[in-house]
Formats: sequence, structure tokens, C-alpha cells
Amino acid sequence: MARSTTLYSCQGCGATAPKWAGKCDACGAWNSLVEERVEKQTGKGAKSTGRSIDLTPLSDAPSAQKVMRLATGMAEFDRVTGGGLVPGSALLIGGDPGIGKSTLLLQLVTKLAAAGRNTAYITGEESADQVRMRAARLGVASVPAGLATATNAADIAETVRKDTTLDLVVIDSIQTMYLPGLDSAPGTVSQVRASAHELIRAAKVSNAAVIFVGHVTKDGAIAGPRVLEHMVDAVLYFEGDRSHHFRLLRGVKNRFGATDEIGVFEMSQTGLQEVANPSQLFLADRKNAVPGTAVFGGMEGTRPLLVEIEALVAPSSLASPRRNVVGWDSSRLAMLTAVLEARCGVPLSGRDIFLNVAGGLRIQEPAADLAVAAALISSVNARPLPERALFFGEIALSSEIRQVPQADARLKEAAKLGFERGFMPPVRNKGTVPSSLSVSQPETLSEFIDMLGGIV
Ligand code: TYD
Ligand code: MG
Repeated sequence: MARSTTLYSCQGCGATAPKWAGKCDACGAWNSLVEERVEKQTGKGAKSTGRSIDLTPLSDAPSAQKVMRLATGMAEFDRVTGGGLVPGSALLIGGDPGIGKSTLLLQLVTKLAAAGRNTAYITGEESADQVRMRAARLGVASVPAGLATATNAADIAETVRKDTTLDLVVIDSIQTMYLPGLDSAPGTVSQVRASAHELIRAAKVSNAAVIFVGHVTKDGAIAGPRVLEHMVDAVLYFEGDRSHHFRLLRGVKNRFGATDEIGVFEMSQTGLQEVANPSQLFLADRKNAVPGTAVFGGMEGTRPLLVEIEALVAPSSLASPRRNVVGWDSSRLAMLTAVLEARCGVPLSGRDIFLNVAGGLRIQEPAADLAVAAALISSVNARPLPERALFFGEIALSSEIRQVPQADARLKEAAKLGFERGFMPPVRNKGTVPSSLSVSQPETLSEFIDMLGGIV
């Protein structure tokens, strides 16, 4: 017999509590408990009725159909997913509102449809006319992709199950979907979880790939339960600074490939354009010979990415000077300024420091240390760095400059873009430096400062 009970579940972490409380015991979020009804099996039906399952050898070859991938023809998307969509898999794309998730997926659906695939775009957020207007703007209005406005996950699942020729279904967004059998409102933990589960199962039956759009909360996590991220095979974030026109698609989980790849897109009047050479985009506005700017030879996954770092060191009138950082880790900056000051005598205390990564990009690599140090030194000296120079290297607390991975890929990219000098950590074999680059390899930060002409 089924009995329904009331539970309170946290919209942040998915934990449940029997009573309402202002604060979730599990994750500490305030005001996140929402009442939900659950059906509980009691009496006879609740007994275990399991049957034994068959175990098969791990060494069996995977069936050919499962490993086959559906290349989308959108190279930046395929790069992030590790070579295209896997039939029967589920993918979640999160991102801030208005960042371009719907645009990206409509482009993906129509691109595949134009290549003769059977695709469907199902939206619970916009009307069919809105989607058609967007398609017209993207120049894909006449492509034979399926379109529906629906929010009933059971109906959608049934449609997907019946149409076994479907290759891709996009659900925009999972927070608008609901199962009529459940009492709670769309967007709540149990609805999101149950709808996603239903849709994933249906996609497995018809061997179609399913892509969910997920809303993010103001702290940047995908709204609703974390379980959603566990249920899908891959989680991608679509991110970017709204005031800039480029967007990054970043993998955070991928059961079928690496997660350190990014795809770069540019938002234009006619939708998202793929950017095959992102370094050119990030260095496009660069003017040479400006004090306080340095080019960092970064890596995003297997792909080199050159970005400009700007620093301004200015006298401060405040008791505790400002340290403003955009696009980099502020505690990393604190460490670096301490090393510059204590080990190399660079006068930074009592001064405001502003640091900015151009183009709205966010750098996570410690390899940026040397480029940030170069920008700071250049700003303190009010003297530009050597022209067409590239910097990368991690700085230790001892002020030693440490090796970073993939030095040759960084140098190769720089040579391709016409750079002539490279400042980098000492490496054991020097055979990888392109002939057009002259490379300096300081062992310590003090040695590096001397190479730049000291502190004036
Ligand atoms: P959208 O895909 O609706 O974002 P999301 O689904 O992530 O909320 O993107 C909307 C933004 O993209 C909107 O602010 C306008 C902009 N945009 C363009 O600049 N060019 C275009 O061709 C399109 C379709 C949208
Ligand atoms: Mg949208």
C-alpha cells in the first residue's frame, strides 16, 4: 500500500528533514527547505522482491554501438565533450541566465538536423514563436529540426521512447519540467530528480543523446539537487562575462573524456561563432609598450591560450591598501606580493594594487605567477616589459621559479603568434624551443628582476 508523507528537502544539497527548519542541517544553507510529498511503500509491497542479476566479465568487448560517437560538426563542442555526443548518454549544461545556453543548443540541434540527423528541441521556457524568431535570427529557420513547447516530463519521455530514430533531444530547462505523479512544484528537488530520471531512461531506450539545460544559483552551482550532476554522464558549464562577447564551454565532469578542455565561442549578432584560435581573440586589443602589462602563456586543457595580464600599482591613501583582483586568485596575489617584497625588496606595501586579466577570462593555473610578477614589476618601474615577450612559471615561497607542464606547447603557440622572447622556468631538456624565440630561464625571482633591468 502506498502512503504519502510530507518531507522537507533542501533545494541546495538535496538532504531531507522530517520537520521544517530555517537552516539546512546538512549544508548550512538558510531558508532552503521546501515541503515535498513522497509516496512510501508500506505493508506487503515494501518487502524486498529482488532477483539475482547476471555478472559479465569486465574484459568483454564493449558493444560497438555504445562507443560510437555522434560528432556534432561544432568543433568547439566536440572538443569539450571528448569527440561528440555518445548515443544514450545524458549531458547537463549549466550557466548564468542570458549567457547563451539556449542559443548554443538551438544551433547544435539545427546543425545536426541540417546534416540529416533526427533532433528535437523541447523548451519549457519560451514559446514556439520565440524559438522560431531566434532560429530566424540565427539563419536556421528552414532546418527540419523538431520543436515542442512542453513541461510534462512523462509526455516527453513517451515521445522519446516511441521515436527510436531520434539522435538528440534538448530539454530547456530541467527546472521547468515536472512529473504529474508528484505533488511538488517544478524546480523542486524531487521534481528535478524524477523528471531527469524519467527522461534519461527514455533516452536510453531510444538510444538518443539527451542534453539538459540547468539553471545556476547565484553562487554559480546548478540549481536543485547535486544529485542531478551525479545522474548525468557529463556536466558542462557555459560561462563568460556578460560585458564581453566571448563565452567558454568548460567540462567539469565527463564519463567519456577529459574534463580539462574548453570550447571558445564568440556571441555575435547572428548567434555564437566558434573561435578556433582563442589567443588571437584575447590579444586582439593589445597595444605594445604599456607599463604594467604582460602576456601569460597559459594552457586550458591541451590547448595553449595566451592572455594579457594588467597590473597597476599606485600610492594608497588608505591604512590598509586596496588589493583588487579580477580573473585571478586574490590569495595567490597576496602570496606573490609577499614574496616580491620580502625576498626581492620590491616596494609594494602601502600601495594599492589592481590586477586584471584581459577579456574577462579567469585564470586558475599557478603558472601565471611569473606573468603577474612581471606586470607588477613593470608597473612599479613605470617601464614597459620587453616587446613581444611571453611569461610563464610558478613562483615558490622561496622565490624560486618552478617548472610548469607543457612548456613546449606554450612556446609553440607564442612563436605562431609572432612572439620573440620567452621568460620561463629552467627545464631539463631545451630541445623544444622554437627557433624564432629567444628564451630566458631565470632560477629565482631576483634573477628575473635583474633580467628586466632591476627596480628603479
Ligand atoms: P540565451 O541563449 O537566451 O541565454 P540563456 O538561454 O543562457 O538564458 O541568450 C540570450 C542572449 O544572447 C541575449 O542577451 C541576446 C544574446 N544574443 C545575441 O547577442 N545574438 C544572437 O544571435 C542571439 C540569438 C542572442
Ligand atoms: Mg534559455
